[in-house]
Amino acid sequence: MGEWVRVAALEDCPPGSLRSVMVGSVPVVLCNVDGALYAVEDRCSHEELPLSDGELEGPILVCQYHGARFDVTSGAPRGLPAVRPIRTFAVEIRDDGIYIQGT
Ligand code: FES
Repeated sequence: MGEWVRVAALEDCPPGSLRSVMVGSVPVVLCNVDGALYAVEDRCSHEELPLSDGELEGPILVCQYHGARFDVTSGAPRGLPAVRPIRTFAVEIRDDGIYIQGT
């Protein structure tokens, strides 16, 4: 299992928002779904563009480039043109901020 990395303060990612962070050399997007935090790789499985440019609709992250949709709780694709899942990461809220487990 990878190291846990502090990526942001809790107030940096309020409910309904996205925040791009780095976990080692991997770009990751933090997603706050009504107070629950999820993290997925910041790269769309369609054409590898940044998902952090998109927006959240509940637990669904919509890629702004061609409209692919992903469930951030599982990484599963939920709308074309994406057919492959995206990678997910474990997230923890600790006293001093938000941590993501790298690989
Ligand atoms: S790059 Fe995300 S839908 Fe095409």
